[in-house]
Amino acid sequence: MVAEPLGTQGLEAPASATPISESDRPPAHAPFDDLASDWRLRHLLDVDTLSRDEILHILSTANAMAEVLDRPVARTPALRGVTIFNLFYEASTRTRSSFELAGKILGADVINVSGSGSSVEKGESLVETLNTLSAVGADAVVMRHPASGAPWLAARTIDGHIVNAGDGQHAHPTQALLDAYILLREFGDLGGRKVVIVGDILHSRVARSNIWSLTTLGAEVTVVAPRPLLPASMTASAAEKEHPLALPAVQVESDLDRAIAGADAVMALRIQNERLRGRLLPSTAEYARRYQLTAERVANAAPHAIVMHPGPMNEGVEIGVDVAHSPQCRIEAQVSAGLAVRMAVLFLLTRGGV
Ligand code: CP
Repeated sequence: MVAEPLGTQGLEAPASATPISESDRPPAHAPFDDLASDWRLRHLLDVDTLSRDEILHILSTANAMAEVLDRPVARTPALRGVTIFNLFYEASTRTRSSFELAGKILGADVINVSGSGSSVEKGESLVETLNTLSAVGADAVVMRHPASGAPWLAARTIDGHIVNAGDGQHAHPTQALLDAYILLREFGDLGGRKVVIVGDILHSRVARSNIWSLTTLGAEVTVVAPRPLLPASMTASAAEKEHPLALPAVQVESDLDRAIAGADAVMALRIQNERLRGRLLPSTAEYARRYQLTAERVANAAPHAIVMHPGPMNEGVEIGVDVAHSPQCRIEAQVSAGLAVRMAVLFLLTRGGV
């Protein structure tokens, strides 16, 4: 399977999406090897170079992996003999624990290395650390790093498969894939579905990766944020928007009430206090007044609308406490889906990726 060139995805009219539902699951104990036989991508660095077919193939594989999770003993030896390192230089609960569990369920050996407590604290460089992991037999490295682009450096440094578990403000591909999994399971097809992403778009790797994957799958994406929390390309002139590195076209709104009207899904993003440091967001209370997902605002979305959040949440800031715990909310389902999606990614890359 070959990725389409950058910039061509999401431009064609989408065919109907592969449904992701219980009834699509393979029979219990189905072998998975066929799922990897056509897979050729060595790394998962972002979703921006994935074609629609590649995204749907990962999500169909995740659906097969969900069958394993339903077994009385959720284990399969599909990755027996594979060694995976979780290399995390930044805090994480969901991504790190689900990658660890995903590898273990598939029978891989999984070793966790974090910035604190490792030789990184003694000044070891990223390249030296990667070479060390390679020397002890890493088949794959799942890495989270505060520097945008670090996984690309890793992919050039060692022979193993690299999975980007979040790099700086740049990309979070498995979060975008699990969000697409939830949306496809809900709606069957994202063609023409209206998805609103509200919050700190500027610093959000989740927003960037979701914009790529959702537009590739045919969704109409609207981003909502105060102007200082939007990337320059979204407030730029038309000519600048055609820059090859610009994000795909999305609607940009400053008024959440207007954006949310009739939406099929609304995704709130965390206010990242560690990145804002009071510079771009002088008042959290004022932000909450204008941009918080409240029950009143969500009531103006489509009747079937769902609410999403990648977590961790600041309840009472970007999302109301009642909304975060409402029946429309899919936050726990997102976390659960992350396990099956990460199993699929590890399986496809290590069993199929060249
Ligand atoms: N959504 C997400 O990446 O959460 P963690 O930082 O807990 O992994």
